[in-house]
Order: sequence, then C-alpha cells, then structure tokens
Amino acid sequence: MPLAQTREIAAAARLENVRYAIRDLACVADEVSLQGHRILPLNIGDPNVFDFVTPAHLIEAVYKAMKDGKNGYAPSAGIKEALDAIRGEAVRKGITNIRDVFVTSGVSESVDICLTALLNPGEDILTPCPDYPLYSAVLAKLDIGLNTYYLNEEDGWQPDLDDLKRKITPRTRGIVLINPNNPTGSVCSRRMLEDIAELARQHNLVIFADEIYDKLILDDDQHISLAAVAPDVPIVTFGGLSKNYLAPGWRIGWGVVSGDAAMVKPYVEGIGKLLRARLCANHPEQYAIKPALEGPQDHLIEVRKKLRARRDLTVNWCNSTPRVSCVSPRGAFYAYPRLDIPEGDDAFVKELLLQKHVLVVHGSGFGQKPGTKHFRIVFLPDEKTLASAYAAIGDFMRERYR
Ligand SMILES: Cc1ncc(COP(=O)(O)O)c(C=O)c1O
Repeated sequence: MPLAQTREIAAAARLENVRYAIRDLACVADEVSLQGHRILPLNIGDPNVFDFVTPAHLIEAVYKAMKDGKNGYAPSAGIKEALDAIRGEAVRKGITNIRDVFVTSGVSESVDICLTALLNPGEDILTPCPDYPLYSAVLAKLDIGLNTYYLNEEDGWQPDLDDLKRKITPRTRGIVLINPNNPTGSVCSRRMLEDIAELARQHNLVIFADEIYDKLILDDDQHISLAAVAPDVPIVTFGGLSKNYLAPGWRIGWGVVSGDAAMVKPYVEGIGKLLRARLCANHPEQYAIKPALEGPQDHLIEVRKKLRARRDLTVNWCNSTPRVSCVSPRGAFYAYPRLDIPEGDDAFVKELLLQKHVLVVHGSGFGQKPGTKHFRIVFLPDEKTLASAYAAIGDFMRERYR
C-alpha cells in the first residue's frame, strides 16, 4: 500500500506577491450571482463581453488558415507575413531602428518573456503606480522586488518625472510606460515621452512601451509612440489584437525591439532563447495580423464613437456626484475616479458588489498614493447599463455616507 500523503502542498513563497484584484473580486461576484442577482460588470476590460464584435474579415482569415491546414506549430518568432505586417505598422508609427519583431500569446506573454530575458536577481525595473497588475505579477514570479513611480493625478495622471528620477538606482534596468494608460485612461504628451527617453539614455535603461490601446484615442490627440521620439534608446513596444481589434480570446500580441543595434543585440538573443523554449504563439490566429493592420479599419470609427459617449457619461456622473471626482480619460476604456470616503476603497467595492451588485475594482488593487482612494470603472458597457450602475453607486453612497 502506498503511504497516504498527509502534508498539504504549499505554493511557492514568492507567489505571496502575486495579486490580480480584477479577477480575485470575480470570486465574490460568483457568490452574488449564485444568489440569483444580475451583476453589472464594470470590471473586466474585455470588449467582446459587451456590444463590440471582432471584425468579420479577421475571423475569415483565421478560419481560412485553419482550413488551409495551418494547425501545426508556427515558427517561434511568428509567421513571416505577420512579422512583416507588424514591422510595417511600426514604421507607419514612426519607429525606425527596428531590431527584432516577435509574436506572442497576447501582450501578456511578451511582457513575461521580455522581463525574464532582462532581469537578474537583485535588479529592478520601474513600474507605474497605479499599475496594470500583470507587471507586478511577472516580477513577483521572478522574485524581483517592486520599484514603483507615481502617476500624478494633479497632472492628468502623467508620470511624475521627479519621482521617476528619484527611484532610479544602480540596480535599475528599465522603465515600464503604459500609454494610453490602464487604469487611468491618460495619454502621454510628446514632451513627457522625450523626458522619459532622456532618463533612459542617461541611465542605460530599457523602456517597455505598452501601447496595446494605441488606436483607442478618444479625442483629437494623436498617439505618439515612445520609440518614434527616441530611435537610439533600447525600447520594446508592445501591441496586439486584444483591444484595438477586439479579439482578446485569440491571445495574439507582439513586441517590436528598437534602438542602437549593437546595444540591443545580446538582449534580443536572450528574448529569442525564451521564444524558442516556449515553441510558438497560436498559429492560425497569426493569420489575422496582416488583415488587421493592413485591411479596413472601419470598426475603429464605431468603437471610438461608442467609447467617447460612454466616457462622457461616466465623467459627467463622476463630476456631479458628491465624494467622487475624475480626471477625464483620453484613451482606452478606463476611468479612475477618486473617492472621498471614510473607509478603504476595498471595503467600498466589496460592499457595493454585495448590496447593489455593481462590480468595479478598488484602487488599492492597482496601487495609489498613500491616503488616496479610487476605483476603476471599465466604461465598455452600453449607456443604459452604465446609467443603471451609476444610479446604483449614487444610492449606495448616499445611504452609506449620509
Ligand atoms: C496595459 C495592458 N497591457 C497588457 C494587457 C494584456 O493584453 P493581452 O490580452 O494582449 O495579453 C492588458 C489587458 O488588459 C493591458 O491593459
């Protein structure tokens, strides 16, 4: 008889720091739905859950690829026609000095591979606070301590340059910049991009420019790629099909490495090793990349129009509601309103869910300046749903903070 195993299997201690507030809250939401309540989901950034559909010509391209037998492994860096299309798109965005292009299972895998290929134990990279939690999760997995810089709410959530400068140490290897930003919806000015590039130059840092929302600019601003203003600086620009092309379930993202050729060569080789070790990204879905980047972009007109109306509704509600204020988002589909309440924003969010069945994410799940409180709204739902959610939040606040 084999011995019965009696001790529990502990997860690795470094996972203590892996937090994904967005999905963690979903467990409480499941309980609320099991009790028969309909939840108003303002928490997950998946356009396809709402009235946004993947463009038909992209679905056709993937279907055709499957029928044509493109169902085996792909080359590790990606199929040639996709790599050429990504390179072409980067050039259209003004990026020169392109040294490498690769396709991954979403931007998520690009981030994982690119951070893993760079960082040794004891080193760090600067990540924004508030943050998109993927970055801190990957760093926790690598056992790398967090070194965060603040986004400045008083300056429309632009990076706080002085804080960024103060946080650079001899062990710092890079800076993450999410532009347009999740969770604040801010878009960086050219001046800010130039200043950040200059810091990277002075301190020999790699910049990770997460530009996954670059086509979801809501006003008349133009999105400027960081790599376009700093061709000499080592930069990995991330993009993908999840948001701009409404296909998050396909798990297609990419990285474009630019900068001085000799400087980035060893790093590019490191990335290549990891790309080969995980074989490849999804194969048939890669056939949607060229038609996405080079084909009709009509869906974007409709997407931006809907998002603009939903953003305006959101900001108007925030600014006419006591205890709530909000910097107006200029890109992506997130708002990050500030709360003036006597309890933590985690308690606010949980009680709101239990009492009014509206699901948003607490600011403490993304990080924020001590003493400030926020919550993140995903304004992808239609106006009717948003209006019901905001009415419910208003009632909740009146009843709770009378
Ligand atoms: C800033 C940012 N980067 C990366 C991702 C992950 O994207 P993907 O679906 O391509 O893995 C997200 C998803 O919400 C995001 O908001």
